[in-house]
Amino acid sequence: MSGALLEIENLSVSYRGEDGRESVAASGVSLSLNRGESLCIVGESGSGKSSVAMSVPRLLPSPPAFYPEGKIFFKGEDVLSMPPDALRAVRGKHIGVVFQDPIGSLSPLHRIGEQLVETLLLHSDISRAAARAMALEWLEKVGIPEPLQRFKAYPHELSGGMQQRVMIAMALILGPDLIIADEPTTALDVTVQAQILDLMRSLVGKSSALLLITHDLGVVARMATKLAVMKDGKVIEKSEDVIAFFTEPKHPHSRALVAEARKMELH
Ligand SMILES: Nc1ncnc2c1ncn2[C@@H]1O[C@H](COP(=O)(O)OP(=O)(O)OP(=O)(O)O)[C@@H](O)[C@H]1O
Ligand SMILES: [Mg+2]
Repeated sequence: MSGALLEIENLSVSYRGEDGRESVAASGVSLSLNRGESLCIVGESGSGKSSVAMSVPRLLPSPPAFYPEGKIFFKGEDVLSMPPDALRAVRGKHIGVVFQDPIGSLSPLHRIGEQLVETLLLHSDISRAAARAMALEWLEKVGIPEPLQRFKAYPHELSGGMQQRVMIAMALILGPDLIIADEPTTALDVTVQAQILDLMRSLVGKSSALLLITHDLGVVARMATKLAVMKDGKVIEKSEDVIAFFTEPKHPHSRALVAEARKMELH
């Protein structure tokens, strides 16, 4: 086993339906990711991107999800065989997750500042005053204007873009080694999308890694240091040279995706 931060080896993810039938969402997936890198998984809807990415923090409800084959090493430990409490610790502190829909992961009942404070208090040994200061600092860092006032806001009082910024703060405030973002900007308009992506890129830096899921090659071009294309549950092409991928995609399906993206860009 190599020393990569994240090493996915020959992973299969399947779902078992209520009738007992099994469907394969991903198979034979091998990916690796190191600090300082941003790996984008790109592919059409249903290709298995989320199934693979959400397996890492074990966020797929299981059942119906199960893992017929493969291993996921995070910092050298196999998350597929981790006991639940070790898993909870990893998930809380070492892996930050950003979803497409911030409302799903922010509590509607609590002020955003308090949610950040509670996250900090749950996972670290600092005083409430220190947590409050840090929460404020993070609201500022993710570009929330007037953080002191916004600290007391409820999620629904913020725009979609601002909610997404709060969720990024939630995902990053504990200093995770790995950030997993599944279509984090799909619901946002183009300008806000670009701002959020730039923000994520600047925050990931050298000491952590980003696993970013998207169906948008424009996002890949902006964010990836390496990429994997998925189709029908399989990784059909991987590249550590993003520019080369865009100029000369190897797999016919990748070529079609790139051609399609070019066409959209011209419109
Ligand atoms: N809970 C589930 N139960 C059964 N099948 C599922 C479940 N979740 C996903 N699948 C199936 O697994 C396959 C891969 O889905 P997945 O959500 O991983 O794809 P995706 O690439 O993330 O798609 P999208 O771009 O639409 O988010 C699809 O065929 C999907 O229908
Ligand atoms: Mg998905």
